[in-house]
Amino acid sequence: MDMGGILVYVLLFLPTLLSYIFLRRTHKRKPQQRAKLPPGSMGWPYIGETLQLYSKDPNVFFAAKQKSYGEIFKTHILGCPCVMLASPEAARFVLVTEAHLFKPTYPKSKEQMIGPSALFFHQGNYHTRIRKLVQGSLAPDSIRKLIPNIEAVTVSTLESWAGGHVVNTYNEMKKFSFDVGILAIFGSLDAYHREELKKNYCIVDKGYNSFPTNIPGTPYHNAVLARKRLSQILSEIISERREMRVVEKDILGCLMNSKDEKGNILTEDQIADNIIGVLFAAKDTTASVLTWILKYFHDDPKLLEAVKAEQKAIYESNDEGKQPLTWAQTRKMVLTQRVILESLRMASIISFTFREAVVDVEYKGYLIPKGWKVMPLFRNIHHDPGLFPDPHKFDPSRFEVAPKPNTFMPFGNGAHACPGNELAKLEMLILIHHLVTKFRWEVVGPQSGIQYGPFPVPQHGLPARFWKESGKQTQHGCA
Ligand code: HEM
Repeated sequence: MDMGGILVYVLLFLPTLLSYIFLRRTHKRKPQQRAKLPPGSMGWPYIGETLQLYSKDPNVFFAAKQKSYGEIFKTHILGCPCVMLASPEAARFVLVTEAHLFKPTYPKSKEQMIGPSALFFHQGNYHTRIRKLVQGSLAPDSIRKLIPNIEAVTVSTLESWAGGHVVNTYNEMKKFSFDVGILAIFGSLDAYHREELKKNYCIVDKGYNSFPTNIPGTPYHNAVLARKRLSQILSEIISERREMRVVEKDILGCLMNSKDEKGNILTEDQIADNIIGVLFAAKDTTASVLTWILKYFHDDPKLLEAVKAEQKAIYESNDEGKQPLTWAQTRKMVLTQRVILESLRMASIISFTFREAVVDVEYKGYLIPKGWKVMPLFRNIHHDPGLFPDPHKFDPSRFEVAPKPNTFMPFGNGAHACPGNELAKLEMLILIHHLVTKFRWEVVGPQSGIQYGPFPVPQHGLPARFWKESGKQTQHGCA
């Protein structure tokens, strides 16, 4: 490193260095009790190890680090010093037992795009209030009423794929999970508002991961404009509901009717930010897992046959699919449920999450300085052979026994754990039911490889052709 480099390095790390020295003084510890930073490399000045992380499979990066340094190590990515945690105990420490010492943290541009009042940017009373409302609308008792509507969305989605043309499975799954998200948020929504939301949401989605700039015509700038239109559309929907005095128990209804202890209602911006936030949290996550499930079925025809047999029995007991699915039936789809859990583990589409230490924290003798990012590494934990033997094998039978507490966290853990997990699982069960009982499909093109955007999905979104089977063919099954 030349002198200029050293100078930049020193300037960048000066604040951290000073706070470290300050901490050592103020805590007045005995020398042998002084916490040290975790092992690991901070990489190059400013860029840290960002290039290493983004130039290869992030999982290879994390796994290599864990091998070299153990379950807690430091690094420097995207301009931030980070501590990464790869053990269930450490993840629980950050997300559950000492969650108040770590706040959620997102890049400012992303916070602005979704809306700064969305619940996952917050901690404390505001977060607890909104979370209760969202959780209530997504609890099993509420979502079981959505089954007929989710079935209708599923059937029309699958019908649109049939005919043998190539579809991008991931993109199609995104449309499906968006429509289910709309159902959970608004119940039934008129076609005009649904289409307007979809159109503008797509523009926001495209700009969300692009370079933040205000130059007109860029994806980011278009996304900012579309985000404003989304607020206007939501404001129209809210006004219509108020005029018609509609009182619904869907997410919008719960947000509109909520009053805090002083009787204050939520502002329209707070409602809009949370609705866009829930849609963001619901859409690409569920779509990625569904795409992986189709890939795992493709890779294991025997497993697909077994799932078909399970679903076919339900289909037949429903008078060849003429009766609607019931909640009780979805609870009996035991093998399909295990396939979903194993897909969540294998794909670990949320490989890690971010928090930021709000004070200096000590964990197992290591210092996590205030302001540093902290990343519990879900994927490393889900792929730890000590917890999940033969972790790279897709084996739904491992879920015949419940995983040890705090070792399986596809939906996170603690105060910010996913309130949509039951809905996500329900819509996956319903889609699988209709897919395997009435359709066959064929994956097109190369069948290995992963793309990141931002969640890992099979390469090119798993292009595939789908055909609807006649009743007779379906009985023998031939996907
Ligand atoms: C397979 C699909 C899904 C996966 C894997 C998933 C995963 C997660 C994870 C890991 C978190 C915690 C993030 C953290 O701690 O930083 C989370 C939070 C959240 N998820 Fe999901 N999610 C899924 C589907 C959904 C759905 C369908 C909805 C809503 C309809 C939803 C709504 C939310 C919300 C609102 C939060 C923030 C909760 C809070 O901050 O209190 N998610 N999700």
